[in-house]
Amino acid sequence: MKKGFFVTLEGSDGCGKSTQSALLVKKLKKMGFDVVHTREPGGTKVAESVRKILLDSKSKISPLTELLLYEACRAQLTAEIILPAIESGKVVICDRYADATVAYQGFGRELDKKIIFKLNDIATSKLKPNLTIFLELDVKKGLARTCLRGKDRLERESFVFHKKVNYGYKWLAKQFPNRIKAVKADGTIEEIANKIFDIVVKKLWN
Ligand SMILES: Nc1ncnc2c1ncn2[C@@H]1O[C@H](COP(=O)(O)OP(=O)(O)OP(=O)(O)O)[C@@H](O)[C@H]1O
Ligand SMILES: [Mg+2]
Repeated sequence: MKKGFFVTLEGSDGCGKSTQSALLVKKLKKMGFDVVHTREPGGTKVAESVRKILLDSKSKISPLTELLLYEACRAQLTAEIILPAIESGKVVICDRYADATVAYQGFGRELDKKIIFKLNDIATSKLKPNLTIFLELDVKKGLARTCLRGKDRLERESFVFHKKVNYGYKWLAKQFPNRIKAVKADGTIEEIANKIFDIVVKKLWN
């Protein structure tokens, strides 16, 4: 196996990222890999505090402030957790990463994508995931799932916003076909977990 391996899970709200990332971590640990499981926004003390602000439906945040807060969280998570883990040969599984900002703030909020790519490069020190799983789910189905547990600030956005985000992810998958693999996310949790595991294992030994 290579030295360190970085996998991100992406997709619109309620597509199953948290469910699937936890299952993937379990399977990889069972195989004996040293796995770090983290998420965005969050994963460090400071970024978890910012997460609360970002997702609180009572927060009033301008699109530019939102962008910079996500990038600040990313910079901290990358420097404090992800880079050291990869450098010491661990497998890192991250629930959302830089693609999410292209999809949500670039396509959803319609902020300048060139600036977003630049900020992503700065926040990540140009680190790219070895593999990104894009969980592809009909926006309505994802939102119906999030309805069941109460919506955060981003999830309360309009249907049109979520359609734009989903389009953004599809655009990204076309731009970076070697890194981003789409997996249909409307099967059973186990079916999807098996599909993801197959893709991850293939890439790990590629
Ligand atoms: N394949 C599936 N079929 C049906 N329900 C599912 C499936 N996968 C996940 N769920 C359920 O849908 C809800 C959303 O799943 P989950 O939290 O994993 O999605 P998410 O992509 O992490 O959402 P968010 O974008 O809000 O973080 C949860 O209640 C979960 O149990
Ligand atoms: Mg989640």
